[in-house]
Amino acid sequence: MSQIDPEAFRQFEHEGWQEVASRYHEGFAAVTTQSVDALLDAARVSQGVRVLDVATGPGYVVAAAVGRGANAIGIDFSSEMVEEARGRYPGIEFQEGDAENLSFSDASFDAVVLNFGMLHLGRPEQALREAHRVLRPAGRIAFTVWDTPDRAIGFGIVIDSIRKHGDLNVSIPPGPPFFRFSDPEESKRALTAAGFTDITVTGVAQVWRLSSPDALFEVMRHGSVRNAALLRAQKPDVLEAIRMEIRQRVEEHNNELPMPAVLVAGVRS
Ligand SMILES: C[S@@+](CC[C@H](N)C(=O)[O-])C[C@H]1O[C@@H](n2cnc3c(N)ncnc32)[C@H](O)[C@@H]1O
Repeated sequence: MSQIDPEAFRQFEHEGWQEVASRYHEGFAAVTTQSVDALLDAARVSQGVRVLDVATGPGYVVAAAVGRGANAIGIDFSSEMVEEARGRYPGIEFQEGDAENLSFSDASFDAVVLNFGMLHLGRPEQALREAHRVLRPAGRIAFTVWDTPDRAIGFGIVIDSIRKHGDLNVSIPPGPPFFRFSDPEESKRALTAAGFTDITVTGVAQVWRLSSPDALFEVMRHGSVRNAALLRAQKPDVLEAIRMEIRQRVEEHNNELPMPAVLVAGVRS
């Protein structure tokens, strides 16, 4: 595997999220919002709990936490995403900020959550250390990632289709493996190393109901970052073959794709 340059990867992700911020909601909200309640339950978010939502995107998790009476704030390193979140949820606090270098004081939150954020970080261990630092003792961390592509079928279809017709080894800045934290043992290892205890890993069943057989290709092509770059790097005739393959596979599932999440939680020691 190529050497990871975390800074180059961060730059690549940052440019990507700035670019897709206004389209992300239309593409992914229908599926990423399905795990929000389980995530907040795992972090024991209720009335008066101080919550930090890292990599908040359009702010769904913060809004749900505020709905539970929590004191919640969302941060994202993309100024465009922060604008999306502020526009969507006026009156809720969103700030620009980096998961790997939080601007908050030590022990200032009861809960830190990340909904599908961990898999976009160049230095996820550093983000876990930062979460640990800003949590009070016995505070809780919880994060979701996608399950492996054999189960999160939307990703399985895209990866298989590129592998079949195109090239998965195109030149994009390499990052940590996309499905690294889908592995319960790896998640436990990383949380333990960052100083968390009482670690649990559970599954969250989710289904992506797509509006048409073409929607998966369109969402990945125009509303994601790593997958969009993979698709963009294919030759035009190859891309068309990939598009047709994805379309057919989505049709075989009647436009309804299982997209389970893996939910990881721990307690700050
Ligand atoms: C897949 S989206 C998840 C958005 C939202 N949490 C949800 O549930 O739909 C990933 C988000 O992570 C943000 N992000 C990626 N790297 C980040 C970093 N180092 N610090 C803060 N945010 C980051 C992106 O800008 C993007 O908004």
